Amino acid sequence: MSSSRILLVIGGGIAAYKTLDLIRRLKERGFSIRAILTEAAGEFVTPLSVGTLTAEPVFRELFDLTQEHDVGHIRLARDADLVVVAPATADLLAKMANGLANDLASTALLAATSPVLAAPAMNPTMWAHPATRRNVAWLEAQGVAFVGPEEGLMAERGESGLGRMSEPLAIVAAVEARLRPAAGALAGRRVLVTSGPTHEPIDPVRVIANRSSGRQGHAIAAAAARAGAEVILVSGPVALPDPAGVTTVHVESAREMLAAVEAAPPVDVAVFAAAVADWRVAEDAVQKIKKGAGGPPTLTLVENPDILATVARRTEGRPELVVGFAAETENVLDNARAKLARKGCDLIVANDVSAGGGGVMGGARNTVHLVGSGGVESWETMTKDAVAEALVTRFAAALRPRP
Ligand code: C5P
Repeated sequence: MSSSRILLVIGGGIAAYKTLDLIRRLKERGFSIRAILTEAAGEFVTPLSVGTLTAEPVFRELFDLTQEHDVGHIRLARDADLVVVAPATADLLAKMANGLANDLASTALLAATSPVLAAPAMNPTMWAHPATRRNVAWLEAQGVAFVGPEEGLMAERGESGLGRMSEPLAIVAAVEARLRPAAGALAGRRVLVTSGPTHEPIDPVRVIANRSSGRQGHAIAAAAARAGAEVILVSGPVALPDPAGVTTVHVESAREMLAAVEAAPPVDVAVFAAAVADWRVAEDAVQKIKKGAGGPPTLTLVENPDILATVARRTEGRPELVVGFAAETENVLDNARAKLARKGCDLIVANDVSAGGGGVMGGARNTVHLVGSGGVESWETMTKDAVAEALVTRFAAALRPRP
């Protein structure tokens, strides 16, 4: 399953300045990054800049007691889906090829079980040296992937040759090729996603709302767009920016959401991640309801249209794949199975939003179960971005191939 946690090992070379841009670009694409700075790397970039860009603590010392307590160098290495070494200096490559473990970076690299991608950067003479040639050949034989180095001018005055670290976007492409095989998987497809809460008006200033942040739905829209789909996102009121490359339609109430969904062009996949209010106030007041002698008002609620069921039960223009979400606080799987049948959709993505569910609502991580006609598949806890990425891979695989 694709995921998106990267352990970035920053070696001590002048190219480390480019690694700051690399972090920014990987973050833009939804990867989460933990960085280890070698002692020498700290001479070129500061932990403050790296930590600010990754929005995570920066790891430097093998025997830092606080960090050992929180994370531990073995877990640091094992938690990642991909280890990226950039810049991979001659020294780091030599340590990797010889199994040295005399600092945090080399220890983590030795303990890592995930694939490793190295972006070498060094002086051309060092790159051409038989020792480096031998180390690179051995690492390649072990499955370490390399991006670069490139030909060009060196930081040393007047020198040029093979040894420049690849540009950040080239490294990003190498990362995506490994972690996001879904890239392009939804090319030529149209995907509709609903996301966020709905606000049901009581009067012009008050609403009935819920705690949905829209993070999971927005992440799915963004991941589908990255996979090449044309994406329409119908979003309730959220504090998130519109995802890049996605047509976002902003709505407030369930009825507005339904209208926007009905107005959308035909789609191949429809994902209903929004937390739609089940009820609305029968007649919202035109003027603000005043506190008065009559005491608190009585609100009469009526049921909202079920947007998911409406689309799943279309006789004409039904999307090939209709996906619902089930936010449950108890009996997660039983309720999801019942919902699959009741709504007529193809797949339910169920999650536990009880307090024990780990703050899914508004949080960054999610534990989901995929409930379909074939049974249940439970996924490990992942970031919402990683869940989105993995779901998009699933959607692509579930669609009938195009002739
Ligand atoms: O019935 P329940 O609200 O638990 O169902 C959740 C699923 O149904 C979600 O996918 C949600 O987006 C969708 N839904 C909807 N319209 C509603 C209520 C729920 O599309 N009125």
